[in-house]
Amino acid sequence: MKLIDRFNRTHDYLRISLTDKCNYNCIYCNPNKLNDKLSKMDLLSFEELLRVIEIFAGELEFKKIRFTGGEPLVRRDIFKFFSEVKKLKNKYGFKTAITTNGSLLKGRVSELKISGIDSLNISLDSLDKNKFLSITQKDEADRILSVIDEAIENGYSPVKVNVVVIKGVNDDEILNFVHYFKDMDVNIRFIEFMPFGSNAWERNGFMSYKEIKNLVEEKYSLSVLSSDKNSVAKDFQMDNYPAKVSFITSISEHFCSTCNRVRISSTGKFRLCLFSEGKHEINFKKLFQKNYSNDDIVNELKEAIKHKWEKHPEPEELIEMIGNNMMSIGG
Ligand code: 5AD
Repeated sequence: MKLIDRFNRTHDYLRISLTDKCNYNCIYCNPNKLNDKLSKMDLLSFEELLRVIEIFAGELEFKKIRFTGGEPLVRRDIFKFFSEVKKLKNKYGFKTAITTNGSLLKGRVSELKISGIDSLNISLDSLDKNKFLSITQKDEADRILSVIDEAIENGYSPVKVNVVVIKGVNDDEILNFVHYFKDMDVNIRFIEFMPFGSNAWERNGFMSYKEIKNLVEEKYSLSVLSSDKNSVAKDFQMDNYPAKVSFITSISEHFCSTCNRVRISSTGKFRLCLFSEGKHEINFKKLFQKNYSNDDIVNELKEAIKHKWEKHPEPEELIEMIGNNMMSIGG
């Protein structure tokens, strides 16, 4: 049985936030250092998470699961959990991915690979030591670059590198990024800066994908790659180099009409959209406590998906919204 909404979109991609905590305090994501307030949150246990996955993969034919955060790898015993997920993967055949800042992966990428994570996205917003420090509050630029090398050596192909472009912060590094990664098995993904209630987004910090792409093309030529139909990225192959360059155009050209994604927050709240505020959404922790069967939960999900909006609001409206910060839903 499939999870289909009013606009005939089939959902088969689940993004699970494993924790709201992060060991970084990036200016665009967690400017208010929300970390301190998060210590007592009632996270879904690994057992509950495995049941969630069993429901989506087993009952609703989901094909892909991504683990996000906060920073997913700050959660204790996380590799053990991934190994449990691997058993479900073998049973149902879905793919797994993770989005991480890479900080805790140093020396552990092979373990990640063995635990069954198929695809790896590493966030890296500056190649410059000092700027990296001022964005993340951690002096770890070199560390993350070495983790990217380690990921390539361990066969992640390509390693996806996420760069959130903010005018006046790192737009002067766009060509440096392309230059640095051009000879590697890397997909550089420039992400348009998105507004959330808590992140001080301003129009003049925003740079559209067209502007970013024009800058890249001043020096390098790109050929369009055909992306899969639910892809959120416009993908390009660099001519004469192995690296790929992509643009995530969430704001300038939203891709809501092909959205196949739903999300679960670290405390078990089901979210229909990255930007939704949680009005019509169900809480897995509560359903489990009330002893709902898998069938009951599937029925709740089918009801909830009816409320998915056709597209997310415009930036000026998004910035006014509360309850949708990136820390708790993880991109
Ligand atoms: N706009 C765009 N991307 C963001 N990310 C976090 N906050 C924002 C934002 N406001 C990115 C992270 C990570 C991915 C999950 O989303 O850097 O790479």
